[in-house]
Amino acid sequence: MDVVRVAVSGALGRMGSTTCAAVGADAELRLVAAVDPGFAHGPSELASVASSCFALLGDEGRFTSLDDALTAGGIDVVVDFTVPAAVLDNVLTCVRHRMPAVIGTTGLSASDLAQIDKACSENGTPVLVAPNFAVGAVLMMEFACQAAEHFKACEIIEMHHDRKLDAPSGTSRLTRLRIEESWRKIGQNKEVPIHSVRLPGLVAHQAVIFGGTGETLTIRHDSLSRESFMPGVILAIKRISAFQGLVVGLENVL
Ligand SMILES: NC(=O)c1ccc[n+]([C@@H]2O[C@H](COP(=O)([O-])OP(=O)(O)OC[C@H]3O[C@@H](n4cnc5c(N)ncnc54)[C@H](O)[C@@H]3O)[C@@H](O)[C@H]2O)c1
Repeated sequence: MDVVRVAVSGALGRMGSTTCAAVGADAELRLVAAVDPGFAHGPSELASVASSCFALLGDEGRFTSLDDALTAGGIDVVVDFTVPAAVLDNVLTCVRHRMPAVIGTTGLSASDLAQIDKACSENGTPVLVAPNFAVGAVLMMEFACQAAEHFKACEIIEMHHDRKLDAPSGTSRLTRLRIEESWRKIGQNKEVPIHSVRLPGLVAHQAVIFGGTGETLTIRHDSLSRESFMPGVILAIKRISAFQGLVVGLENVL
């Protein structure tokens, strides 16, 4: 099997640098490009393992713009962990270059997703948008959909570190969408309220609480470190090229 050549967009960030290290540690993948506007100032606050990946890349593998990296070529898949303000533009840049893209950045709205869907169905570019790459979070959503068939009341509490830019989280919005879809199938049209908590010390946590007659059911997932997302990210990188157009949710690649 050929090695998959990977570009990481947002490479100097918390998720991006963890992804660079995970790609660097996988024998079937090769980190060939790291993109981040922060490279203009020189890599400063890098995780040590990711830092050694950047050293291997050399100057020619570091880019401040995704378009420049894609124009340089030699990339099979882009992974994006940037910021809500940049992600739509980055996805559309990938689609324009017909570049398979694995998108972990959250904050895309329903109308952003519709725009991406239209763009990638026009030229068949595979784009996976997954607000949560942790396998446990995918199971949490699946179990919540099962519970929704039996409970008619539900609220979500999502808790994240205080530097997260978007609220409510992408995972909570996807969970809400899935629960509301399950409810519609049994004739209930109701919204699921979401409560957002931002505190230092947290990573990424969510509780889906159902209320019934004299009982509650809580389905909870905790990501205790950013490494929890890496098995899902690596799997998505390896499988993305088999897809066509927009796919939302890691469950589609598991
Ligand atoms: N899908 C998941 O499983 C998952 C898990 C955790 C976090 N996230 C999301 O991932 C995103 C990144 O989180 P983080 O904690 O790493 O953030 P961060 O702030 O640590 O890193 C973001 C990086 O993106 C860079 N950046 C900004 N604009 C850019 C552009 N146009 N092109 C390339 N790079 C650019 C920044 O310089 C920064 O280094 C957030 O949206 C977060 O919610 C997703």
